[in-house]
Amino acid sequence: MNIKPFKLERYYTVNEFSAKYSLCNSDSEAMTINDLLSFESDAKDKFHNLWLGYTESKGHPELRRDIASIYSVIVAESLLVCAGAQEPIFLFSRGNLNSEDEVIVQSPCYQSLQSVPESIGCKVSNWNVKYEGAKPTFDIEELKNMVTNKTKVIYLNTPHNPTGFHFSKEEQEAIIKIARINNIIIFCDEVYKESEHHPEYAIPSFADAYENGVSVGVMSKSYGLPGLRIGWLTSQNAKILEKVAILKEYTSICNSAPSEFLAGVALRNRKKILERNLNIIKDNLPLYDQFFDRYSNLFSWHKPNAGPVVLVKLLFDTDDMGFAEKVLKEQGVLLLPGGVYDYPGFFRIGFGRTEIPEALEQFEKYVVKNLMT
Ligand SMILES: Cc1ncc(COP(=O)(O)O)c(C=O)c1O
Repeated sequence: MNIKPFKLERYYTVNEFSAKYSLCNSDSEAMTINDLLSFESDAKDKFHNLWLGYTESKGHPELRRDIASIYSVIVAESLLVCAGAQEPIFLFSRGNLNSEDEVIVQSPCYQSLQSVPESIGCKVSNWNVKYEGAKPTFDIEELKNMVTNKTKVIYLNTPHNPTGFHFSKEEQEAIIKIARINNIIIFCDEVYKESEHHPEYAIPSFADAYENGVSVGVMSKSYGLPGLRIGWLTSQNAKILEKVAILKEYTSICNSAPSEFLAGVALRNRKKILERNLNIIKDNLPLYDQFFDRYSNLFSWHKPNAGPVVLVKLLFDTDDMGFAEKVLKEQGVLLLPGGVYDYPGFFRIGFGRTEIPEALEQFEKYVVKNLMT
């Protein structure tokens, strides 16, 4: 298989654990196993007595029931538990596409949504973000005109990494209408679902809303538990899931038993965990508001209504990769340059972590020293 290196993940592999401060992570603040187990009085005892044999390839039936409780139409039988979100993204494309197919990808994107179809030989068309001032938008009419009789899948991600964009219910319905008329699968990466900043911004999962919708969910982002490596793929269309289940027997076979148990505890207590994580986002956003207000001649940003990331535009003459490198070298602060998304002139920031106030203070020191002369 010929596949491009994953630029963003390469960047994190090199820098994430050596940087002193990070201003760009896309997950919520994590917690310890102890913190998680304390949500249920008998969880500690059950965890210590857990059987470490192989697990069911589709995922433990109880865990699938806990996951299904997030959805309205999707049931436990329409879910396949996988290793994080990356495994189902990879396996969905490898299992459901062939080289004659065309796909449309909402862009810029988390690279596997594009590089895996490319590795199969599919023609990939990019449905690109547009900026109205600092606000990102996606033009539904443009999407409609991009569809051909070979389009097999439309890849979406909402809330969106990296722009912070989130579809409204009306936009979602319009996209589903286009897909339904043309018999196209919608694959939606929903790893940031349930991190809408206000309940009014929540929209249904594409797997609930569309009979040929496929949704990916994960414990990594809104729940802040990426170390579990538990995610899932879900669809009302059993044939799509079956193709993934067959390939999974070549990759992870089944999931980690301790992780499945812990994911179940987290999901049964998800309202409390989501509230904790949303409060961190709500504490961090005003700091960015004030910061970008102070430096509005250097950066332009828009406050998103969902998710833990947003793209910031550089308003002075610099290259984003070089800028991020200098900030890291001089001040120890990790930024994510737009270049890793092939989207230069921007950098991504995150606001899901408790370290943001300190990291932002350090970034401001760099700005004052180097950009205010
Ligand atoms: C949009 C998106 N999809 C998928 C993933 C992969 O998630 P995981 O680490 O849970 O496999 C990420 C991680 O950053 C992401 O941002």
